[in-house]
Amino acid sequence: MFRFLVTLSILLSYFNCFSLASVVTCSGIVPMRYRNDKISITDFGGVGDGKTLNTKAFREAIYRIQHLRRSGGTLLYVPPGVYLTGSFNLTSHMTLYLAKGAVIKATQDTWNWPLIAPLPSYGRGRERPGGRYMSFIHGDGLQDVVITGENGTIDGQGAIWWNMWRQRTLPFTRPNLIEFMNSRSIIISNVIFQNSPFWNIHPVYCSNVVIRYVTILAPADSPNTDGIDPDSSSNVCIEDSYISTGDDLVAVKSGWDEYGIAYGHPSSGITIRRVTGSSPFSGIAVGSETSGGVENVLAEHINLYNVGVGIHVKTNIGRGGFIRNITVSDVYMENARKGIKIAGDVGDHPDDKFNPNALPVVNGITIKDVWGTKVQQSGLIQGLKNSPFTGICLSNINLQGVAGPTSPPLKCSDVSGSAYQVKPWPCSELSSSQQTGACSNHF
Ligand SMILES: *[C@@H]1O[C@H](CO)[C@@H](O)[C@H](O)[C@H]1NC(C)=O
Ligand SMILES: *[C@@H]1O[C@H](CO)[C@@H](O)[C@H](O)[C@H]1NC(C)=O
Ligand SMILES: *[C@@H]1O[C@H](CO)[C@@H](O)[C@H](O)[C@H]1NC(C)=O
Repeated sequence: MFRFLVTLSILLSYFNCFSLASVVTCSGIVPMRYRNDKISITDFGGVGDGKTLNTKAFREAIYRIQHLRRSGGTLLYVPPGVYLTGSFNLTSHMTLYLAKGAVIKATQDTWNWPLIAPLPSYGRGRERPGGRYMSFIHGDGLQDVVITGENGTIDGQGAIWWNMWRQRTLPFTRPNLIEFMNSRSIIISNVIFQNSPFWNIHPVYCSNVVIRYVTILAPADSPNTDGIDPDSSSNVCIEDSYISTGDDLVAVKSGWDEYGIAYGHPSSGITIRRVTGSSPFSGIAVGSETSGGVENVLAEHINLYNVGVGIHVKTNIGRGGFIRNITVSDVYMENARKGIKIAGDVGDHPDDKFNPNALPVVNGITIKDVWGTKVQQSGLIQGLKNSPFTGICLSNINLQGVAGPTSPPLKCSDVSGSAYQVKPWPCSELSSSQQTGACSNHF
C-alpha cells in the first residue's frame, strides 16, 4: 500500500511538472496558421539537385501567392532535395514549408546579390558605409508569414562572405540569412539555419514575432554570425532553440548612435526562454547598438557551454537611449571566459559624427539564479562616470572558477544596486543591501 502511494505521488508530481499545460510559453502572441491552399516549388520548375539555380522558381511561386490572394493564405512546399537559389522576398499570408531533407541553399554568386538601402536606425550598412546586401530570405512590410516544416535547412553558404570579410574585400555589408523589416505576426519554427553570411535571424521594426524550435549553426570562427538579433522590435518570443555560432547567440538591439537616437524605435517585450548554445562571444546579450532604447526583456532557462561572456549588457558613449527592466534568470554556464559583464565602453561607432555627450541610461537589471562552473572571471559591472548604472541587482549567483571553488570577484565602477547570496561576493558598490527587497526594481 505504501509503495503504491509513493508511486502514485511520483506519478502525480510527474504530471504536474511535465504536463503540456504547465509549460510556460509566449508563443501564443502569434497563433499558428494552417493553410488549405498549397503549392509546391516543383510546380514552378524548381529542381532540388543542388546545381540548378531556382531563383526564378522561388520568385514566381511567391509572386503567384501574392496575386492569388487566397483567403487563409497559401503554403509553399519545398520537398526533400537541395534547392540552390539567389535571394528572394516573401509575401504576406504565406507559409514557407521545408519538408524533412529539404535544403534551401544560397548561391555563392556574390556579384549579382541585390543591394538595398541601409537601415535608417543605423545610417549605413553595419560593417561598410552605404547600402547593404539584401538578406537571403527577405520580408518587408509583411504580416502573417510562417517559415516552418520538418526541420529542413536554410543554408547561407557563408564561407565566401566570411573570406571577403577576412580579406577586407567586401564592397558592402554582408547579407543576413533571414530579415523581416516593418512586419508583424511572424512565426519561424522547426527549421535549421546554417552558415549565415552575417547575422542569422534579424527582425527589425517588427512586432509579434515567434521564433521557436530552431537550430542555428555556424563555425565558432565565422565572423558576426549572431544567432537571433531582435532589433527595434516589440513582442518577440524566442524559445526552445539551440544556437551555436561565431558571435552572440541572442542580442537585443535598437539602432546605432545618432541614427538610432533620431529614429527612436525601442525594442520592448522580448522573451528568450529555454535556449541552449555555445559562442566565443556572448550567450545572452543586450546591445551594443541600443540607441532607440531596450526595455522589458526576460531571459530564462538558458544553458551555455563554452561561451565568451555568459550574460552581456553592452553599450557605449554616443549611443544615448536606455536599457531598463532587463531580467535574466535560471542560467547554467560551463566553461566561460567571463560570467557576467555590464559595461558602457563596448562597441564601435558608425562614424565620427556621434555625440560623445549622448550617454545611455541604464537602470533596472536583475540577474538571478545563475550557476557557473569553470568560469575564468566572474566579470565586471562598469557604468559611465556621468551616467552611473543604477538598480543593478544580483541574487543567488554561484560562479565557480577553473581551479578553485570560486572565480575571482566581480569588479565594479559607477554602479549602484544590490546583491544577495552572490558567490564570489561582489564589489562593495553592490554588497550593502539588506536581504529583503534586494531585487525590487527602482525605475
Ligand atoms: C525585394 O524587396 C526589396 C526590399 O523591399 C526590394 O528592393 C526588391 O526590389 C525586391 N526584389 C524583388 C525581386 O521583388
Ligand atoms: C524538429 O526539431 C525540434 C527541436 O529543435 C524537435 O522538437 C522536433 O521534434 C523536430 N521535428 C521533426 C519533425 O523532426
Ligand atoms: C518589466 O519587464 C517584464 C518583462 O520581462 C514585464 O512583464 C513587466 O511588466 C515590466 N515592468 C514594467 C514596470 O514595465
